[in-house]
Amino acid sequence: MSRFFDFISNLPFPTLTRFQCVLMIIILIPTTIALLSAPWVPTPSDRVKKMLALAKIKPGEKVYDLGCGDGRMVHFASILYKAKAVGLEFSPLIYAMAKMFQPIYWLKGSRAKILFRNFYKKDLSDANVIVFYLLPHAIQKLKPKWKKELKKGTRIVSYAFQIEGWTPTHRQKRIRKKSFCPLWLYTIGESDKVKK
Ligand SMILES: C[S@@+](CC[C@H](N)C(=O)[O-])C[C@H]1O[C@@H](n2cnc3c(N)ncnc32)[C@H](O)[C@@H]1O
Repeated sequence: MSRFFDFISNLPFPTLTRFQCVLMIIILIPTTIALLSAPWVPTPSDRVKKMLALAKIKPGEKVYDLGCGDGRMVHFASILYKAKAVGLEFSPLIYAMAKMFQPIYWLKGSRAKILFRNFYKKDLSDANVIVFYLLPHAIQKLKPKWKKELKKGTRIVSYAFQIEGWTPTHRQKRIRKKSFCPLWLYTIGESDKVKK
């Protein structure tokens, strides 16, 4: 580690202190992990409402947004459906932004939580509904985790990209005029059955 700090000190730009190096690493590592799974691009609010309606959320159900960005999906789930909604975000700057927006949603009645977490590492076994807007390779990587952890009947709603190899229980087409991407609803126990 001290070699690393020596290397940094010898770089030909203004010297960084150890504290600045550590801070940079703390910010850069999770930011890179998050960027690789999906950069922050918010889902249009109308589409978020449609996703939550598709999931038929009941009051008190546990809803997770995997990569919650500014937190809009979980705040709407809490305000509109009285769900126990939790947003997981791993990019430090996006997480800070979500925490900044939180009081605005509190005033509208949201009780949603925003956690600084890597969704690949978070136990999701208590979920009733999972929503997300992620790139196909991240969705593919999450499939074994969902199969292992999620209980039968858990609904999964994806914006823009489908879960390859699973059969959606409902699909909403793209709306070109509004630049809305398609929506896909999956139900654990039905959608994840292997096709014969
Ligand atoms: C396309 S944005 C969607 C934001 C929000 N769900 C929405 O629909 O408006 C994807 C988000 O996932 C976050 N993300 C990517 N990988 C993550 C990971 N491993 N753990 C937690 N968040 C992650 C990104 O930082 C980004 O904010």
